[in-house]
Amino acid sequence: MIYLDNSATTRPHQDVLETYTKVSYDYFGNPSSLHTLGMEAEGLLTKARSAIADQLHVSAKEILFTSGGTEGNNLAIKGTAYHKKSRGRHLITTEVEHASSYETYKELEADGFEVTYLSVDSNGRVSLEDVKKAIRKETILVSIIHVNNETGTIQPIEEIGQLLSHFPQVRFHVDDVQGITKVPLNIKKAKIDLLTASAHKFHGVRGTGMLYVRNGVRLKPQIHGGVQEMEVRSGTEHVAGAVAMARALRMEMEKAQKEKSHLVKLHSKLIHSLPTIDGVTINSPLEKSAPHIINFSVESIKPEVLIQSLSAKKIYVSTKSACSSKLAEPSRVLLAMGKNSTAAGSAIRVSLSYETTEKEIDVFLRELKKIIPTLVGVRK
Ligand SMILES: Cc1ncc(COP(=O)(O)O)c(C=O)c1O
Repeated sequence: MIYLDNSATTRPHQDVLETYTKVSYDYFGNPSSLHTLGMEAEGLLTKARSAIADQLHVSAKEILFTSGGTEGNNLAIKGTAYHKKSRGRHLITTEVEHASSYETYKELEADGFEVTYLSVDSNGRVSLEDVKKAIRKETILVSIIHVNNETGTIQPIEEIGQLLSHFPQVRFHVDDVQGITKVPLNIKKAKIDLLTASAHKFHGVRGTGMLYVRNGVRLKPQIHGGVQEMEVRSGTEHVAGAVAMARALRMEMEKAQKEKSHLVKLHSKLIHSLPTIDGVTINSPLEKSAPHIINFSVESIKPEVLIQSLSAKKIYVSTKSACSSKLAEPSRVLLAMGKNSTAAGSAIRVSLSYETTEKEIDVFLRELKKIIPTLVGVRK
């Protein structure tokens, strides 16, 4: 098997799963219970929080556990909008956010908030100038994805954070689900107020995630009924998931230190080899792009067909074309970058992990080269 769909999800590390099983079985107490088992579980949760905070160079009380990226983005955006709505109802985001942010903004629009969706350039990047121009006295939140999940485009988060620090009424939320452990980001230096991460994107267990909430930042809870997670996110804590996430984060941060050049090498091989294959055009930017995501189009082929053909060879990649009633829908992100609807409707995403080998990339490229001529003309 050659798994090149790591931005959809990663396989949990064996060590992480062992931690998960052990904690689930040996420390099954409810952290809210007052007896020893409860206290032991609470102790583990506290340790996981501190371990994650250490990795991110923030304080433990700034880490809030969630069920993943979708919840983190919803909580950060709605939690801020509803908490600060008496100060203003204007929100700023981009046209290239992940659906879990984008659709949340659409919901808020329906509820009377005004949203500015910043456009992007041909590399999928927003300009600092546009962010600045969009800020008004009623603006309460700017929310920007760090690494785009479809193209790997890296946004100028630190520059935007520095700019926003001159507007203390504006909160800054960053969706770092695809960036964490792959593209460094200094939360404090970038003046970020809220940052979303999800464990299953870095070999943790699905259904676990975290939201960094800067000390002093308040959110309106979106789930009610308990006092867990600083009274912002009710529900019995997923202790084993949090501990496993802390372990996965440590392991992947170590890899980021030692094996970054490995990913960069694979990325460079793909960027240089893909365009030499007949019919392939690269959509990801060639610079300031994450090393683990490469997006390309083969306009003459229906992407689902290409994916199935690769899948038959046990090579797994993805398309971002949402497939409803078997009709490919062009990618909103690629359209925003100015790609035509054929290119945007035939996109393939290859996403790597530190585990991906050069040999796997070679096999993928070889098979792709063989398959494309056999499929040309098999379009919608
Ligand atoms: C950039 C980005 N944000 C948020 C999410 C949602 O994360 P989760 O799958 O943990 O809900 C994803 C998932 O693909 C993503 O890529």
